[in-house]
Amino acid sequence: MTEKRDVRGRIEALREQVRYHNRRYHIEDAPEISDPEYDALVGELEALEAEHPELVTPDSPTQRVGGEPMEGFEEIRHAVPMLSLANARRTEDLREWDARVRRLLGEDEEPRYVTELKIDGLAVSLRYEGGRLVRGATRGNGTVGEDVSAQLRTIRSVPDRLDDDPPAVLEPRGEAYIALADFERLNEELEAEGKKTFANPRNLAAGSIRQLDPKVTARRPLTILLYGVGEGGEIFESHSGMLAALKGYGLRVNPYEVHEGIESVVAECERWARERESVGYQIDGVVVKVDSREQQLALGSVAKSPRWAIAYKFEPLAGRTKLLDIIINVGRTGALTPQAVLEPVNVGGVTISKATLHNEDYVREKGILIGDTVVIERAGDVIPQVVKAIVEDRNGGEREFVMPSRCPVCDEPVSRPPGEAVTRCVNARCPALALEHIIHWASKSAMDIDGLGEKLARRLFDLGLIKDVADVYELQAEQLVPLEGFGEKSAENLVRAIEKSKEQPFSRVLYALGVRHVGSVTAELVASRFSGEDLMQSATVEGLAEIKGVGEVVARAIVEYFSLEDNQNLVGRLMEIGLNFEREAGRPADGPLAGKRVVITGTLERPRSFYVEQLEGAGGTFTSSVSKNTDYVLAGEEAGSKLERARELDVPVLDEAGFEELLS
Ligand code: IVH
Repeated sequence: MTEKRDVRGRIEALREQVRYHNRRYHIEDAPEISDPEYDALVGELEALEAEHPELVTPDSPTQRVGGEPMEGFEEIRHAVPMLSLANARRTEDLREWDARVRRLLGEDEEPRYVTELKIDGLAVSLRYEGGRLVRGATRGNGTVGEDVSAQLRTIRSVPDRLDDDPPAVLEPRGEAYIALADFERLNEELEAEGKKTFANPRNLAAGSIRQLDPKVTARRPLTILLYGVGEGGEIFESHSGMLAALKGYGLRVNPYEVHEGIESVVAECERWARERESVGYQIDGVVVKVDSREQQLALGSVAKSPRWAIAYKFEPLAGRTKLLDIIINVGRTGALTPQAVLEPVNVGGVTISKATLHNEDYVREKGILIGDTVVIERAGDVIPQVVKAIVEDRNGGEREFVMPSRCPVCDEPVSRPPGEAVTRCVNARCPALALEHIIHWASKSAMDIDGLGEKLARRLFDLGLIKDVADVYELQAEQLVPLEGFGEKSAENLVRAIEKSKEQPFSRVLYALGVRHVGSVTAELVASRFSGEDLMQSATVEGLAEIKGVGEVVARAIVEYFSLEDNQNLVGRLMEIGLNFEREAGRPADGPLAGKRVVITGTLERPRSFYVEQLEGAGGTFTSSVSKNTDYVLAGEEAGSKLERARELDVPVLDEAGFEELLS
């Protein structure tokens, strides 16, 4: 009984620590411990909960992985409706709004205003009772939304408990969204996997939350910023005071500014209109709110929007132009992507002449014809895209797009596997693959070779100076100097940048190799457990699939990649050149436990994180479940099912003393 109490106490202590560090990382952007340290805490908590399922509670931070898929969403009626906002298109509209506010408030009242960015995501309402998250809902039509509690719980910036003595019932409201960089990365990964990509971050955020299977939501990089309160908001005297209080409760709050007078508000709106692209997520305006709650109540609402707030909307980053043609771009994975050739058009200060059409189905579903007038949209550095055709503008001269049956680069037949959205060139020797691979290799998120962009790569490739990524490392300054646009200095700079990329860690190299399904996150996971040598010689599908976050499809793609002769030759050359193929995460490859997989279970003399650190310091890997690939099980008191499993599989079992012996 006391032991059980100890376990319960330890679980609670771990949960507190994990919650604390979640908050430091996801809400305050100020982590205190390293990722491996954090993983060790979560690992220990998961292990204890797995051994004591009766102690698992829905508010445990481990439950963010998402529960069982649901049949459909339940409806939720908002006790306080979720209103929308009236729009101001011009700064003049803001001044008129200010005049109306003053008129309604009367002469002696001087309104103070708060400005916040208007985030283009999905509006949601959270509900905390007694400081615990009990429910989450979408805005829906403002009166009735959908119960997405399980989905919202998976968002790391949504704390499951509040700090600082919050009101008994509190409904913080805000916007769930996905940052532009995360959106791009996810789309790249989806594309590499042959899955459908998302048209914009807003659709991705909405699609991720309205997922019946919360495990899918958990894998999406969603985050939240709060800007209001439904029920429970009565106690705050001002909007700014409420936001400050939300911050104190440990919630992630939309940044805000307080202004005296409308001219300061106008200046702020104009500033953001200019700087909108410096924000890492999609915003479509600035929201202006009367700060005083008393004044808000006096102003009241009309129809579905309050009189005390207004949205200053930016010019949309969209435009209309003619779709002149659809050409096919062959990517490094062999994917054939239809690309729109447009009559050049200025969208928010950038001239757009090309845009993506994603894939064959996208063109078909949107009913886009060559010759159509189309609407295009752009956001940050994300590739612009064609969002729809203006059917009324047709003159009968438009024609349908047909996906080619042969690769436009090598003329070999293409294939579109059933269930995949992407058509691919499967000819391993297709030059498009080689060139696109070089472009990918040099790109920022891969080897980050400064100066070797798409244009130059194409030129060097066309000149025959580089045929594959290994050739890049053989480029000499003397070969570059004669080229137009190069001088001695710039040639040397490029060679230096190429040389410098040799310092990139193995995870980058692995990602840069362009193995199908292996995005940058997967590459990091794999590189922390396997070296290049391991992957070439001994890694198995089962072994790779044991890495948390690596599924069987990915594992198979990796094994297949390293088993092909062409690839082995390339990797061999890259190793000779001196690129990094060492396993990462500071796990020495030559420690006494190098390459050993160890499960740690039961109650030990010291916290589990202590043993995990020792193990990893000795080159070993901590794994959570016992299998035939486990090398040792370190078992303490009350070790339970994992110990049994180890005995069944004849895996050596150690106590603390035995473990220490191995370490020495
Ligand atoms: S306040 C009573 N603040 O805009 C006012 N809304 O048209 C309720 N939105 O559905 C909304 N950023 O999805 C407010 N800082 C912000 C916002 C914001 C985005 C969205 C929200 C709402 C829509 C209103």
